[in-house]
Amino acid sequence: MKVLSGIQPTGRPHWGNYFGAITQYIALQEAEQAFYFIANLHALTTVRDQQQLAEYTLDSAMDLLALGLDPQQAVLFVQSDVPEVSELCWLLLTSTPMGLLERCHAYKDKKSKGLASGAGLFTYPVLQAADILAYDSDTVPVGEDQVQHIEVCRDIAGSFNHQFGEVFVLPKAKVLDSSARVPGTDGEKMSKSYDNTLDVFEDPGRQKKQIMRIATDSRPMDQPKEPADDILYQLYSLVAPEDQREEMAQLYRQGGFGYGDVKKALAVAAEAFFSEARAGRDDWAARPDDVRDILQMGAARARKKAGQVLDRAQHACGLKGY
Ligand code: ADP
Ligand code: TRP
Repeated sequence: MKVLSGIQPTGRPHWGNYFGAITQYIALQEAEQAFYFIANLHALTTVRDQQQLAEYTLDSAMDLLALGLDPQQAVLFVQSDVPEVSELCWLLLTSTPMGLLERCHAYKDKKSKGLASGAGLFTYPVLQAADILAYDSDTVPVGEDQVQHIEVCRDIAGSFNHQFGEVFVLPKAKVLDSSARVPGTDGEKMSKSYDNTLDVFEDPGRQKKQIMRIATDSRPMDQPKEPADDILYQLYSLVAPEDQREEMAQLYRQGGFGYGDVKKALAVAAEAFFSEARAGRDDWAARPDDVRDILQMGAARARKKAGQVLDRAQHACGLKGY
């Protein structure tokens, strides 16, 4: 299996990103080939502050390393450090019908809201296709929202192959476990855009305050409740050890307890669950040059592979061999 995925450097990771995506990328890092990159070229379509983009890029690498990405096993790099991908993107653009991109939801949503969207946002899926095809990736772990982009990638690759021969490997999306849809502090889906996140690397004191403020229903204390329906329990079950999770489920079913106690237990469990990653994050933050070295090593490995694929594509369509 040749695995690849990209993460946009748009801010600190929250529990939704961790349980919905990152943990599964890390579980796949033992594949025959595992490439993970920080999608800074894609982020440039939205992050328009020089310092912020640079900072978020290095931060994202530190986050992944602290959360268990092993740079000996997986290739970790920054998207823009592999210029072959941007070059491949042009080749693919010439095989991309406008209509295919007009149907893509990120662009369509913006347009329907009357928001300005640049050619970067419009061609975003083609760059994503180049990311995937440049490494002969066959498996792309992504959230549900990205499945359309993988389909677009297959269409573009298929059309290029149809014209020029079997150049690209057609990838498959590996949809991440949708049961891991993590609720935010307001009960909606946790998302940066809703300002309802619990961040993975949050200071435990601040996180406890955020947890204590989670909105709950006004159920009388003595009434039993189905744990799976309650957001506090849903969050608790992500971070608590199995036996404690069971105990808590029993308490819900019995009734006669207060939400304040659940919140306190949640804060304690969250602190313990992320404590190793938090310490690891501090370690990496203290040695940014080591992180830069890892990224450079990763980029060198990625460029080697992308260079071969680009060369293959260039020969196939007549850009080379003249
Ligand atoms: P945000 O909504 O905070 O901007 P992103 O869209 O950047 O998050 O999320 C990156 C990936 O993290 C998504 O593709 C998805 O797989 C995962 N993810 C984000 N939020 C959640 C959530 N609440 N529950 C489960 N997975 C999530
Ligand atoms: N578009 C993806 C996201 O917003 C990030 C991404 C860029 C990506 N290139 C990719 C994901 C290639 C998978 C494969 O989450």
